[in-house]
Amino acid sequence: MKTKQLIVANWKMNPRTPKEARALFQSTKRTAGHLTKVQTVVCPPAVFLGLFSPLVSRNCFLGAQDMFWEKEGAYTGKISPAQLHALNVSYVILGHSEERALGETNEDIQKKIRAAFEYRLNAILCIGEKERDHEGHYLSFLKEQIKKSLGKIPGKELGRLIIAYEPIWAIGALAKKADTPRALLEIVIFIRKVLSDMYDKSIAFQISILYGGSVNAQNAEAFLKDGGVNGLLVGRASLDTKEFTEILKITKQIK
Ligand code: PGA
Repeated sequence: MKTKQLIVANWKMNPRTPKEARALFQSTKRTAGHLTKVQTVVCPPAVFLGLFSPLVSRNCFLGAQDMFWEKEGAYTGKISPAQLHALNVSYVILGHSEERALGETNEDIQKKIRAAFEYRLNAILCIGEKERDHEGHYLSFLKEQIKKSLGKIPGKELGRLIIAYEPIWAIGALAKKADTPRALLEIVIFIRKVLSDMYDKSIAFQISILYGGSVNAQNAEAFLKDGGVNGLLVGRASLDTKEFTEILKITKQIK
């Protein structure tokens, strides 16, 4: 497990213009530059990656929101890990629930994770249930997502894996609410137990776990302090310069 807190900005399909995107990136980079204890990763839409590629700095990295598993060829509309690597991109979000909703399977995600590692990209594997039922079926669901997405990838290759727990009911503008730090902590323990059973304890503890879903400047501190996570995956709040700057500053104070 890395000692720095990891804050990932998922801009999704925003903003509309390169001008707005550049202003947002520059402002995030300015704050991130002062925060040596925080690792900030900005994941803009792929069309902006080339713009920001020369601007990557020591504390402010570039991530993609998805990629394909092949490195080149006749795959219309796809982006390859080799292309991301060539653009100074060092992280890639994989298995986001919005991609899964469009048909991406755990098996696809596994191929993408393997391909990401081949190009030295840090893979942020997103998992999360639609509903949190009282019987605990959601835990079996999470376990299956982890097992099938990692499949037969050997433990020694997981040095660049990060898991983002993002309950679907807590994501986006239609979200009912964010998770609670207490429930999150139990899930983080559960995820480490699953990893420990699949691999071993040291591998389970070496993998960083993030929380995502309605994170904002009001709840960030509680998640980081009491949720047992190593960082946050931030959607909407990463598009608001003031709010995101605040989240980064809060993260800096976490011991
Ligand atoms: P949100 O999105 O912070 O807007 O809820 C998080 C995500 O989907 O990664």
